[in-house]
Amino acid sequence: MKTIISKDIEFASFILKKGGVILFPTETVWGLGANSHNNEACKKIYQLKNRPVDNPLIVHVKNFETLNQIAFLKNEYFDLVKNFSPGPISYVLNKKDQTIFSTNLDTIGVRIPSSKEFLSILEFSNIPISAPSANISGKPSITTLAHAIEEFENKVEFIYEGETSEVGLESTVISLFEKPEQILRPGKITFEDLKIYLPEIVNTMESEKKVLSPGTKYRHYSPNGKVGFWKNFSGENYSYIGFTKKENAKYQIILKDNLDYMKNLYSFFIESDKLGIQDIFCEYPREDKYKDSILNRIEKAISK
Ligand code: TXA
Ligand code: MG
Repeated sequence: MKTIISKDIEFASFILKKGGVILFPTETVWGLGANSHNNEACKKIYQLKNRPVDNPLIVHVKNFETLNQIAFLKNEYFDLVKNFSPGPISYVLNKKDQTIFSTNLDTIGVRIPSSKEFLSILEFSNIPISAPSANISGKPSITTLAHAIEEFENKVEFIYEGETSEVGLESTVISLFEKPEQILRPGKITFEDLKIYLPEIVNTMESEKKVLSPGTKYRHYSPNGKVGFWKNFSGENYSYIGFTKKENAKYQIILKDNLDYMKNLYSFFIESDKLGIQDIFCEYPREDKYKDSILNRIEKAISK
């Protein structure tokens, strides 16, 4: 299959409508998307990613009205959704539109992205787009055009020629279909941010940490090299991401702050693998509200 790489929104919509899969940037990470109303097209995504069939896809919509058409959103959550969306957050809700592709759950995850490019595709095509992060299951998510092309050229029909993702980590996922509300995956929108609107929200991530032992059965976001927190290291075949320059690192990214950490983490993992680096070191993130989201991804990479 020959991949078209361009900024042609009309062509992207054409591919979606005829049941193809496209790759595009979002403000969180790059996505691999198909028409949510086309089951066969959505199933192709699972093959491309080698994704377990019971892992549901997030449905992306252009605005609040469409969200309301496909899922049940209680009035009490209108202010929350209007405050955080469009943006890097997905809501798990009861499904209203039964023609939307899903696994055997009664719920769907829905997100209104803020990425201009992605919104243009949603608006022009006027269809909801089911899209997981663009990566082979278990591998780090893709955040740059170069990595999108390296992984998926000639495997998908279209790659949007877009920019590096601004946030760099996947969206925050919260469930709103039953009480108490739960945070299922932390992201740029944090537990603290959500508490203001949802005082009862439960941090499922925290409780899971206690129940699950290290080295849990799921492998996530992992490069081939061995990931660990930074410690003094005498070898040379290592890479480093953190706040202070290291002398011998074969590859390193020096960060300004935790937002910069989010933005660079996955591309750091992918570049480390491309260089065949054995030891991949991550400095402990700074103490602020973003720390837990970064730690969540690093700990998953360590526990592979
Ligand atoms: O930032 C993002 O969310 C990116 C971009 C492309 O929008 N997408 C993304 O999708 O990260 P994915 O499939 O890699 O992660 C979606 C997460 C998975 O952990 C999935 O299990 C969960 O959301 N999820 C989706 N629908 C769900 C549902 N109905 N109930 C519970 N969890 C759900
Ligand atoms: Mg993913």
